[in-house]
Amino acid sequence: MNALLELYNELAGSVKQHSQRVAACAVIMAKYAMADLQAEYDGLNAKELTEAVRAGCLYHDVGKFFFSPMVLISSTAAEEKNRIAMLRSHTKDGYEQIKKHGKACFGKDKQFMQVVADIVISHHEQYNGEGEPYGLSGEDIPSAAHICALASKLDSLFDTFVIKCGDKFEFVAKLIESQSKRCYSPKLIEWFVSAEKELAVFYLTQYENMRCLRA
Ligand SMILES: [Fe+2]
Repeated sequence: MNALLELYNELAGSVKQHSQRVAACAVIMAKYAMADLQAEYDGLNAKELTEAVRAGCLYHDVGKFFFSPMVLISSTAAEEKNRIAMLRSHTKDGYEQIKKHGKACFGKDKQFMQVVADIVISHHEQYNGEGEPYGLSGEDIPSAAHICALASKLDSLFDTFVIKCGDKFEFVAKLIESQSKRCYSPKLIEWFVSAEKELAVFYLTQYENMRCLRA
């Protein structure tokens, strides 16, 4: 039982820290995407949109907390299949929770909650239509969710290549840029390139903390 509790605490801790970094990076990119965001979410000003993007990114993986911690322990092929299926459903599970409890939780208006909901449901969609859960493509992916997707990938790649393998941030940035028209829209890559120096500075501040967690 202790092992299970430790696993669950580990998941909770890593999702929280990942989500905080994703939110910080998404807010940096949102500055460069503001004209498009405002066109998509009529009625929200730049400050409100920034706050909504931050909130959505902080909660983007909330669906991972609504399945039994037992799925974290998989020893048979069937259990592993079940674990993967439950993890894959986290966008829909999270969206249901945001729809049910979001307004009471955030106390914000409909447009603000639409940004949050879009991020939660669509942060695994890809530009080429090969993402999840609905296979949205191109301009059908809400910009706020698309920004979250890139920020989340950036965080995972930084962890893998910089923290574990000692590569430079620039290496990770080039990997992201190489995914233009595949995972990410050319427009999103433009916002990312514009924000790149600020993102590099942000990760410099996170480096020691992330390295200690990995040690
Ligand atoms: Fe996710």
